[in-house]
Amino acid sequence: MKYRFEIEAKNYEDFASGRVLYNRKGATAFPVRLGSEIIQRCLERVRKARGKVPLTIYDPCCGGAYLLTTIALLHGREFSKLYASDVDGEILELAKANLALLTPAGMARRIAELEELFALYGKDSHREALASASRLGELVEHTAHLEIHCMEIDVLRPGLAGKIAPQSIDIVITDVPYGSIASWSQDITDPIGVMLSNLRPAVRDQGVVALVTTKQQKVQAQGFKRLEGFKIGKRSIYLLEPES
Ligand SMILES: C[S@@+](CC[C@H](N)C(=O)[O-])C[C@H]1O[C@@H](n2cnc3c(N)ncnc32)[C@H](O)[C@@H]1O
Repeated sequence: MKYRFEIEAKNYEDFASGRVLYNRKGATAFPVRLGSEIIQRCLERVRKARGKVPLTIYDPCCGGAYLLTTIALLHGREFSKLYASDVDGEILELAKANLALLTPAGMARRIAELEELFALYGKDSHREALASASRLGELVEHTAHLEIHCMEIDVLRPGLAGKIAPQSIDIVITDVPYGSIASWSQDITDPIGVMLSNLRPAVRDQGVVALVTTKQQKVQAQGFKRLEGFKIGKRSIYLLEPES
């Protein structure tokens, strides 16, 4: 796969999980360059149909919201609303802590925590994290306006409409569970197909769904048409649009 937007590999160490963004055992991160490339491919398509309006983004398997937080820090100006949900209530505590970094108060709290750690232990890692936090803090001016919703939803069960309004989401981006660290909450034959049909009413007709899966996972996208697909390392990425 060739990068079309993130052509240059940059240094993303400010975004490293556990440095400024929070981490915990069992949570997964996501390559920042790849997340940024995928979202720009989605934006290219959605912008053609929707023009310059503020957009809504949703990750229905958000885990600790590492992917969403990094996307918002890099591309927050594109969005007005951000939805994050997961079936696991405990991981959502991590998601809330990470999404709070998109607010001036949340980032200030994190900087104060890191200052306290540096004062107590004087470690280089804390000094470096403080320098990263100060650089990420500058990006918060592009995210402070975001309306953020973080909630517990089982995307394999119907009923999303009660929580997320029909035709309200412009971009769904999600890296679905892939086994060892994160697995689907139910052992069913076609979890991706079930998720997509549950998501369909929430996605605008001109919206885009970006799915990140492993190469072994099959994507049967009823109600959606495949726009593009590419592979990178162990991951397969699919961009889908709703069928009219
Ligand atoms: C690979 S992780 C996502 C990591 C996330 N992108 C991040 O950046 O932190 C997949 C997530 O899917 C969640 N999941 C599993 N079954 C689910 C379901 N039925 N509904 C919603 N989320 C589910 C898991 O709890 C896990 O957090």
